[in-house]
Amino acid sequence: MKTHDKYAVTDPKLRPRYAVLDPELTLGLPPKITSTTGMDALTHAVEAYINRGNTKFTAECARKAVKMIFDNLETAYTNGSDIAAREQMLIASNYADLAFTRAYVGYVHAIAHTIGGLYNTPHGLANAIILPYILEFYGDIIHKRLAELADVAGVTKPGQTDDEKALAFIAAIKELNRKLGIPERLEGIKEADIPLLIERALKEANPQYPVPYIMNKKECEAVIRRLMV
Ligand SMILES: [Fe+2]
Repeated sequence: MKTHDKYAVTDPKLRPRYAVLDPELTLGLPPKITSTTGMDALTHAVEAYINRGNTKFTAECARKAVKMIFDNLETAYTNGSDIAAREQMLIASNYADLAFTRAYVGYVHAIAHTIGGLYNTPHGLANAIILPYILEFYGDIIHKRLAELADVAGVTKPGQTDDEKALAFIAAIKELNRKLGIPERLEGIKEADIPLLIERALKEANPQYPVPYIMNKKECEAVIRRLMV
């Protein structure tokens, strides 16, 4: 598209009745696509879980997805023919979908869509890199929720506080990215594009996404600058 503006199209008519989760179809998927689409699924689950307006159902789906992704993504990446890990990842991505199509995504996706539109950055790669930065940006307002996910992901130790668990969860995401060969920062963001990136990302997120905290332009700029190499 001429404007390089990427945005989500939603309509109840687009809602599927069935999902075919056949792991054999994913066996030939290259490691890079396996890792980045898996991190996209994790981002769906985490963004949905920290949003306002979660239901019991969406929270449960998000927790299941987070556990399955932490248990299986690295295996699916390092051993692409592991059909059991592939199957778990498919089921996990479906749980994450059930969560985020009801509780929505947030700033990770808003910034990733904007960057993907401008520079063709693959969606999952952008999300994987941006996710820990947004979680750090929110700070302690989401620590209770992240602590719950940290327990689910199995990255906590007995006796830790919610703050410690939340930080352990963010560290575990960074560690997972590292194991999957995903870089810490996004290459190619141009200084001159920053105002447009901010405008588009904030327009996408607000008011559509029920994020835990509404980001202002300055805060969005700070996050984008942290992403830059
Ligand atoms: Fe996504």
